[in-house]
Amino acid sequence: MLKIILLTGATDGIGLETAKKLASMGHTLLLHGRNETKLNDIVKNLSALPETGIIESYICDLSNLNDVRSFAHQVMKRHQKIDVIINNAGIYKTANTITSEGYDIRFVVNTFAPYLLTQMLSPLLDKEARVVNLSSAAQSPVNLLAMEGKQELSDDDAYAKSKLAITMWSRYLGIMNKEMGPIFIAVNPGSFLASKMVKDAFGVAGNDINIGVSILVRAALDPDFSDATGKYYDNDNAAFASQHPDALDNKKCERIFKSIELTIDKLNL
Ligand SMILES: NC(=O)c1ccc[n+]([C@@H]2O[C@H](COP(=O)([O-])OP(=O)(O)OC[C@H]3O[C@@H](n4cnc5c(N)ncnc54)[C@H](OP(=O)(O)O)[C@@H]3O)[C@@H](O)[C@H]2O)c1
Repeated sequence: MLKIILLTGATDGIGLETAKKLASMGHTLLLHGRNETKLNDIVKNLSALPETGIIESYICDLSNLNDVRSFAHQVMKRHQKIDVIINNAGIYKTANTITSEGYDIRFVVNTFAPYLLTQMLSPLLDKEARVVNLSSAAQSPVNLLAMEGKQELSDDDAYAKSKLAITMWSRYLGIMNKEMGPIFIAVNPGSFLASKMVKDAFGVAGNDINIGVSILVRAALDPDFSDATGKYYDNDNAAFASQHPDALDNKKCERIFKSIELTIDKLNL
């Protein structure tokens, strides 16, 4: 069945290749990017293919939560229902690590923005809808000071903390919404996949990016994932896996969840 799928970070890497695959299957795609020229070119090229369904484009810099809010409003103006959100956009190495509000950009883009977008769009998500959150094999314990931008972090540490944080809110909301949905699934798409992020961070070409594409498509659409809410799929082992101990700790997950809500409130959106 054809679905309505919102995909963030569709302008490069795993997101771009996933957009191509989903477009070739005829799904309605709401493609997001921060670079208007890049996104418009992609939408134009995909729309020209014979099998493509409707493709919409949304521009938003996810490091600015006010922009994220406008992005969600734009989606809500055009849609009453979405079947899948793939929170794919992510950042690792960057010249400017601190946002104008004083937060680490890795937390804002990788953890807070997907949370805010998903929460705002939750009225459009029914029991069977899926939220696929991009996690990583790189995960490390999150201290609230770091998450609140009050501690300087290395690139590796900021990235790994932000990825555990998204994995934790994914599990928390999965448990909280178990009866009414949507389904929340955290996915490590595979390590060192050939993308801009991996090239910039590690200077290597990386492994076949389609490893990541196929797991995102499965997590979004396959019946195997319909009872996976709150789970973590580790594509390095091609299986659902036990989570980081902190993600299995309900109290810690709740603290992360509350801190994200507080931060978003503080930003007075
Ligand atoms: N590649 C891997 O081996 C690997 C492993 C584990 C997890 N992941 C995760 O998979 C996801 C995709 O990564 P990738 O490797 O495909 O990275 P990538 O090639 O760098 O692509 C990242 C995407 O996110 C977008 N993006 C970055 N910062 C943004 C911002 N501030 N606002 C809006 N969009 C922004 C980028 O836009 P631009 O095109 O404008 O740059 C691009 O579309 C990430 O969440 C990453 O953490 C990747």
